[in-house]
Amino acid sequence: MKPSPFDLSRRALLKTGAASLGLAAIAPMAAFAGSHSSRQPLRIPPLDPGQMVDGQRKFDLTVGHGEMAFFADLKTKTMGINGDYLGPVLRFRAGEKVQLNVSNTMEEATTLHWHGFNLPAAADGGPHQVVAPGGDWTAEFEVREKASTMWYHSHLMGKTADQVWAGVAGMILIDDEEADALNLPNNYGVDDFPVVLQDRAFNSYGQMPYRLNMHSRNMGMSGDVALVNGTVSPYLEVTTSLVRLRLLNGSNGSIYALGFEDGRTFSQIASDGGLLAAPAQTTMILLAPGERAEIVVDMSDQAPAMLRSFAQTGGSGGMMGGMGGMMRGNSPNHDFLELRPATSVSTSPALPATLADLPTPDQNAATNSRQFTLQMNGMGMMNAFTGGGFSINGKSMDPTYINEVVKMGETEVWQISNASMMAHPFHIHNTQFRILARNGATPAAGEAGRKDTVLVSPGETVHILIRFDHYSDDSLPYMYHCHILEHEDAGMMGQFVVV
Ligand code: C2O
Ligand code: CU
Ligand code: CU
Repeated sequence: MKPSPFDLSRRALLKTGAASLGLAAIAPMAAFAGSHSSRQPLRIPPLDPGQMVDGQRKFDLTVGHGEMAFFADLKTKTMGINGDYLGPVLRFRAGEKVQLNVSNTMEEATTLHWHGFNLPAAADGGPHQVVAPGGDWTAEFEVREKASTMWYHSHLMGKTADQVWAGVAGMILIDDEEADALNLPNNYGVDDFPVVLQDRAFNSYGQMPYRLNMHSRNMGMSGDVALVNGTVSPYLEVTTSLVRLRLLNGSNGSIYALGFEDGRTFSQIASDGGLLAAPAQTTMILLAPGERAEIVVDMSDQAPAMLRSFAQTGGSGGMMGGMGGMMRGNSPNHDFLELRPATSVSTSPALPATLADLPTPDQNAATNSRQFTLQMNGMGMMNAFTGGGFSINGKSMDPTYINEVVKMGETEVWQISNASMMAHPFHIHNTQFRILARNGATPAAGEAGRKDTVLVSPGETVHILIRFDHYSDDSLPYMYHCHILEHEDAGMMGQFVVV
């Protein structure tokens, strides 16, 4: 049996590391992280419901440097929001107005983007809403979304990947009356849990420097150490028969094929933008960077269950695209989270047979269409502006150029095609859309609901029905981009205004 990192003194670990400096430097950390005997309790981020002031729900968020003890007495340099690594889970209510006061205590600029929301462009928190070093920024908007799991993260031009890697991200929960009436598990930290899935590469000093090489530049940064809410090798003690996990792929570039080690069936109840029409029974969910899925796991058998990302290869050559959706990208093998039933487990109310009233997307409502082709030309080659051949419709991100002008309230069909050798999760700001077809076929149950990010495999074409209901601004744009953060930073991003 390998020693646990938590038993090791800093000196011993440094000594171990020193022997393996160089290419194999991350191996010792990864090996310790995988040791089953050393699982530690899952970190549950603090829940921040804000403060009601003058009819607005106010939040104070400070982005700053931190030092996180991922491994016992080793301090890893990080960034976080109101903490060392990641941020609090913000709880919003549909229909309310929120005010988010962001301050930046770092000597580098940052932004905070509210991923998944229809909001004014000035409140989006994208590359044009920079929070200067030592500066402040306030976003105000009405929560127009349904009950769902959203998130927030840095979106600084060219530096998103770097800052998210360091920890500038957090989850947002939205409640509404429709969901309240369903009696789903929603007691935060008791039967309803945030599950932020990431992987990180640590060096032998326990640090996770952000450094790209040819491989990570193309594939996105990843690492051997699986983290859930910033916890290495976590377990979660389960005290109810049904457990709701709000899964967020918060990694930079890894696609996860998620299921349980024992192959148990679970229910997906929500996609990115809210509840599905009915629970979808499945044994595996493919979750790409930026995507969320809420699942309910039945633990009444009282047996421990390991949430795992199963190793899969695919996403090259375009041939795998049609294979039932399970081979759409490369997925690494990670044991993310062990669910451990307590000695006594209380019985949860049964999952309802129907969840939300989801209108069937009506393609005939569309009055316009647009086409987006994702390209990686000359992998690893440099271009003057972004440093990579990553583009959409042949153009790399240019913050001074508006790629698309969309009319507010107009329904459109967007056709997204992948002409590259890698799978790309395509994300669009300021709306929740619906998938009409994936390579001509109706989407699987798990992605038939509201979405803001859709994985498009090599050779695939996805048609979505999209509309931007509120807010127009003819000068300030929103973004659409690949959510593999290295691709986004290298130029696989474009800008649109809603007029
Ligand atoms: Cu999750 Cu443009 O971002
Ligand atoms: Cu977004
Ligand atoms: Cu990409």
